[in-house]
Amino acid sequence: MAFRSCAGVILLSCLVVLASSAVPKQKGRKPVNQPARSIADSERDAEITSDCPEDGFFADAEQCDKYYQCRNGEIIEKLCPDGMVFNDYSNQEEKCDLPFNLDCSQRPKLQTPIPSLHCVRQNGYFSHEDPKECGKFYYCVDGKFNMITCPDGLVYNDKTGICTWADEAKKKGCGAADVFAFDCPPVNETFGLTHPRYADPEDCQFFYVCINGNTPRRSGCKLGQVFDDVQKRCEWARKVPECADWYKGQLTDAELEALENPPTPKHKPSGSGPSRRKPQRPSKGKSVEPVEE
Ligand SMILES: *[C@@H]1O[C@H](CO)[C@@H](O)[C@H](O)[C@H]1NC(C)=O
Repeated sequence: MAFRSCAGVILLSCLVVLASSAVPKQKGRKPVNQPARSIADSERDAEITSDCPEDGFFADAEQCDKYYQCRNGEIIEKLCPDGMVFNDYSNQEEKCDLPFNLDCSQRPKLQTPIPSLHCVRQNGYFSHEDPKECGKFYYCVDGKFNMITCPDGLVYNDKTGICTWADEAKKKGCGAADVFAFDCPPVNETFGLTHPRYADPEDCQFFYVCINGNTPRRSGCKLGQVFDDVQKRCEWARKVPECADWYKGQLTDAELEALENPPTPKHKPSGSGPSRRKPQRPSKGKSVEPVEE
């Protein structure tokens, strides 16, 4: 009855039991939750059939994308779609997921990849083939790809499958220095700790925050604003002489005007017409009119 306690939460302790009882190690193909009594390889299949711990789904001990379904005491070997791995959080659910939040370190084997255009496997997130395309990646579903571009200034992070700061992604050739044509000016340590900001020399709307004074992260001001390198903050373009014309051709003066002076809701707006749209959230702390949901 050892295996009964293998379900769910106690899986780990069970694995330990199994590991100690499974010496010498047999070749693959054993459900993690397999009962402790050992089975000769030759009669493996027949034996496993009768050794289903209980109905449900059980991870393979060595291969992360392989699992077993037990039904009426019968065991059926199954494989997740290529690129996905078996999520064993509950043996009552048959669930394959992308590997990012699942730990496959104890059962690292995987099926042979089935690649297709831009897809290393049929499913998953994959870096762009060109290592210089730091912010581009492919999202593959059933072997069909979609190219996705990270928000400006971010780098696709292989390990997590999400877009992060270049200095966090730690991707070869995609460090902050490679991604940005910007070097943080040398500063003393004290000043560095303030994470100083600098205007993006190429684009008035953007600026760099130098984390600890030495690692640039690109950040932007909202539409209509530019980075004021004197005040070190975002300001309406027309108030910053070097960048006063930055939005010419993109926004008319009237549009800039509207952005600068958003229609303030009359105190206690009663109707919920479109004019209630507020580009800025009411700041917390101050007394504001009750927010309607
Ligand atoms: C560090 O640099 C800042 C800005 O350049 C300066 O104001 C400050 O005096 C310096 N502090 C030290 C300890 O050198």
